[in-house]
Amino acid sequence: MSTGECPIRAANTGGGGTRNRDWWPNDLRINILRQHTDITYPYDKNFDYGQSFKDIDYDGLKKDLNNLMTDSQEWWPADFGHYGGLFVRMAWHNAGTYRVQDGRGGGGQGQQRFAPLNSWPDNVSLDKARRLLWPIKQKYGSKLSWADLFLLTGNVALESMGVKTFGFAGGRPDTYEADESVYWGGEMTWLGNDVRYSDGKAGLAAGGVVDSDQSKQDHQDHHTQHAETHKDIHTRDLEQPLAAAHMGLIYVNPEGPDGVPDPVAAARDIRTTFGRMAMNDYETVALIAGGHSFGKTHGAGPSENLGNEPQGATIQDQGFGWSNSYGQGKGPDTITSGLEVTWTKTPVNFSNSYLNYLFKYDWELEKSPAGANQWVAKTDDKIIPDAYDSEKKHKPRMLTTDLALRYDPTYEKISRHFAENFDELHDAFSRAWFKLLHRDMGPRARWVGPEIPKEELIWEDPIDQSTVSKISDSDIDALKKEILNTGISNEKLIGAAFASASSFRGSDKRGGANGARIRLEPMKDWEVNNPKQLQEVLKALEGIQKNSGKKVSMADLIVLAGCAALEKVAGLPVPFTPGRGDARQDQTDVESFNHLHPYADGFRQFGKGTSRIRSEQFLVDRAHLLNLTAPEMAVLVGGLRVLNQNYNGSQHGVLTKSPGKLSNDYFVNLLDLSTAWKPVEGSEVFEGVERKSGNKKWTATRFDLIFGSQPELRAYAEVFAASDANEKFCKDFVNVWDKVMNLDRFDIRPTTGAK
Ligand code: HEM
Repeated sequence: MSTGECPIRAANTGGGGTRNRDWWPNDLRINILRQHTDITYPYDKNFDYGQSFKDIDYDGLKKDLNNLMTDSQEWWPADFGHYGGLFVRMAWHNAGTYRVQDGRGGGGQGQQRFAPLNSWPDNVSLDKARRLLWPIKQKYGSKLSWADLFLLTGNVALESMGVKTFGFAGGRPDTYEADESVYWGGEMTWLGNDVRYSDGKAGLAAGGVVDSDQSKQDHQDHHTQHAETHKDIHTRDLEQPLAAAHMGLIYVNPEGPDGVPDPVAAARDIRTTFGRMAMNDYETVALIAGGHSFGKTHGAGPSENLGNEPQGATIQDQGFGWSNSYGQGKGPDTITSGLEVTWTKTPVNFSNSYLNYLFKYDWELEKSPAGANQWVAKTDDKIIPDAYDSEKKHKPRMLTTDLALRYDPTYEKISRHFAENFDELHDAFSRAWFKLLHRDMGPRARWVGPEIPKEELIWEDPIDQSTVSKISDSDIDALKKEILNTGISNEKLIGAAFASASSFRGSDKRGGANGARIRLEPMKDWEVNNPKQLQEVLKALEGIQKNSGKKVSMADLIVLAGCAALEKVAGLPVPFTPGRGDARQDQTDVESFNHLHPYADGFRQFGKGTSRIRSEQFLVDRAHLLNLTAPEMAVLVGGLRVLNQNYNGSQHGVLTKSPGKLSNDYFVNLLDLSTAWKPVEGSEVFEGVERKSGNKKWTATRFDLIFGSQPELRAYAEVFAASDANEKFCKDFVNVWDKVMNLDRFDIRPTTGAK
């Protein structure tokens, strides 16, 4: 604040002043369940972005992008007369925030337009890259999202520099507000990493917040541990679900861990962070070696010359940040990372020089003009062109993280192999790049455009299309009867369907009922899915599939079984939409599917909080991944409890006298004023006792009591506990059930950025 006014007075309008979050920082972040709704989405509710992208003049768009590459603008001149390097970095930094553990991050929503990403220290100068694209975005308007444009531009940049890319799929609708659901770390300073490397404990749930006492303790611990951090760079563990070594970076510190120029330790950080982006060693080497074949780094002078980041810049900067007072503040005087390296002789043409130089030369540590650690070849060869002066030549240079590809023994083997086999590097780079850009897009049903590759890749979680059901309404009726005649309880049938569908996560659109992976490794053995009970249901359904004479997939049968059983216990029609197919085990990457296993699942009373994450935060996290609103979360918990859907038959929170029957009993009994709740020592269980007699009536957990204690959730609980609410509750439950069953049915839903 530079107005000199008291901040509270200065902000006495427009939502200013201290807010609930200032007073009670640990309040549950239910706000993440009301993001990207149709009130922030500027397009019509029925606008189908995927369809609209199909109508685009795709060749014209690619031509425009190609022309842009060499159309150097006076306000931000292109190095070597070509914006290729800048745009590849822009696309990479969009996509590279993805992490496997919760599927969040990534380039799928155009989030680099918003804070914090637009202002991350790692994204310096990408404000310019995005603005260079505005005329093209303006021209194609609603047909082309920023999210698709950022990534396609990276692809076209590579093609314009000689890379044969693997393809491109559009279909990423934009969001229009900063996504608050992503835990980017707990540090309060840019480039800090004291929290993420503090204790190796599991990370925070979505919109993470830590208990204040614990937080204070953690901060004290971090204080004393900070000095240790440097010593620990060879052993430290990165907190889940993070995939970056510092707050505000996409991946690792280019100078080496915490700035220590140690290539071997850098390799360790690279392996962790790239692994969390779903890349193995082979893909990691291909990506770095491929990517650093292009462009240059920028460190003409000290970074003190840079002004505020976009989010903190003045209104007249119009969203630009990091204004540079060094020299002319652009072109040869650009400051971005503070490193000053050009890797190859041909920075706008794909070649194998990066790896060739990496092994050809010995490297000497030096300081960049901005004072950062970087490496220069021990040679008199001045073979590297200058970005602006054709008379000038430089020695080859590398970052500490580049040297990691030579000095880590595993990376070295791969790097040497690629150095001798350029065609293989080319193919590996194209494939890894394609994966990087499309990893969080979900199934092919969401992919649009003329450049979708034919080859199916394991990380797409493919489904055997030949198994997709073809059944009529009368087939459905007949199958329902057969299912209900098996004698398997409604509870078990509902449980299997919910287990199957609720593995979905809206972040990277993985999981869900389609594919029936619940019958494959690893999901069939997940504890949360009650494997024994699940097998009983699956066996019966497999029998029906075999003998029914109908072309029905197991995926459809599992959902249909749940719907048929729910109809019985709800006394209401439950919609069912067929069209799912089954996946084979060989189409299923077991290791990668394990990331979908919930640490805690409040819908099924599975697991509980940690010392830093309260159980209810895990519940909200799961609800967010299931694309639920707060009232939907409440209805789903309340319904599943009375339907006896707890993990392992637990009775905690089954607040009804008639379990197995759908009703609003859960909320009626939770809010019953004659009940007092008391914690059972040493557990997360609470006993509900009759106030007068002290007789025990119920048991419940934090997953339940939060609906009585958190005021917004209580407000919903009151709606559903009202005397006239039973019918509404049952109808709402069926609706949310139907929503969950179809979360992954992108084949029957428009592509939209609004939930
Ligand atoms: C530039 C670090 C991986 C593509 C840079 C810069 C740094 C950096 C510090 C300089 C930014 C500037 O000052 O302008 C790293 C590190 C990596 C990594 C530490 C991983 C260990 C990748 C990957 C790709 C990539 C995987 C793409 C597949 C590029 C490109 C540039 C660049 C094209 C040049 C930008 C320009 O010409 O303006 N990288 N990078 N990098 N990086 Fe990376």
